Amino acid sequence: MNFLRSSKINVEILSDTGIKLAHFSDLHLAGKRDSRGLARFETLLNAIIDSGCSHIVITGDLFNSNDPDDWAVVKEVLQSKGLYSWDKATLIPGNHDLINLEEEMRVYNALNPDPRTRKKRLRQKMHEFCSVFRELITGDDTVTGFPYIKVLQYGDVTVSFVAVNTVFPWNNADNPLGARGNVSRGELRALFDPLVDKALRDSFVIGVFHHAYRIYGTDVLLDQAFDWTMELKNRDELLQTMQRLNAQVLLHGHFHRFQTYTAAGIKVVNGGSFSYNPRRYSEIVINSDRNFEQRFVDI
Ligand SMILES: [Fe+2]
Ligand SMILES: [Fe+2]
Repeated sequence: MNFLRSSKINVEILSDTGIKLAHFSDLHLAGKRDSRGLARFETLLNAIIDSGCSHIVITGDLFNSNDPDDWAVVKEVLQSKGLYSWDKATLIPGNHDLINLEEEMRVYNALNPDPRTRKKRLRQKMHEFCSVFRELITGDDTVTGFPYIKVLQYGDVTVSFVAVNTVFPWNNADNPLGARGNVSRGELRALFDPLVDKALRDSFVIGVFHHAYRIYGTDVLLDQAFDWTMELKNRDELLQTMQRLNAQVLLHGHFHRFQTYTAAGIKVVNGGSFSYNPRRYSEIVINSDRNFEQRFVDI
């Protein structure tokens, strides 16, 4: 996989000196006519703007559908709040944005097609997503895929986002609910490109992906079955990659809990679920000495 062909590294110098980030996840809006959900979304954004936040991160599952017409509404709301720009917002898709479970099962039951067609459908949907939100991904009119990297400079501190896709195709045996995650080998390899090291040097690195590194993990069999349907299959490979990139924080969603934990010395923040609590988000403040504080804010 040619990293430069499939992805993009952008660098932008910003004049701001305060670095306050807001992260939330899993909006699960019912569609473009979900006026209640969209009103709540606007309320949350207003509070985030009022807090003096420099950048927002949304870690996927915007809608319960995978319809690009719906995605446009999120774009419009962000635009109306002055947040729809590469330096103000980072956004990635979740499994609900890219996989239509009913459609996958219908096609499978009717045709039992070759798994390559499922991969192709997911690739096409990903391309549509990256096309709709291209300004947030590339900062211009070009469309690229994952992984993508943003390097933002605030005064003397550089903050970098390394966004990775963890959604992989529906499969009756290996991914029956479409909710298991996997990062492709190509994406992981791309992050080993020397250009990535160069771009991230001396930066405060934040990894961004949808699926949870850690889910329940109890001894109860029913929980374990549930865990299996939601888990990020090659989570340790992703974690090792993020360690290698000196990531200081990892942001994800998918498992609908507001929680933080540590993995291999890296702070992990689960942005929880807007659909469960639309009045809570995670705030990270990065200081000039590169230390940071995280807290959940209730508006
Ligand atoms: Fe979700
Ligand atoms: Fe999800």
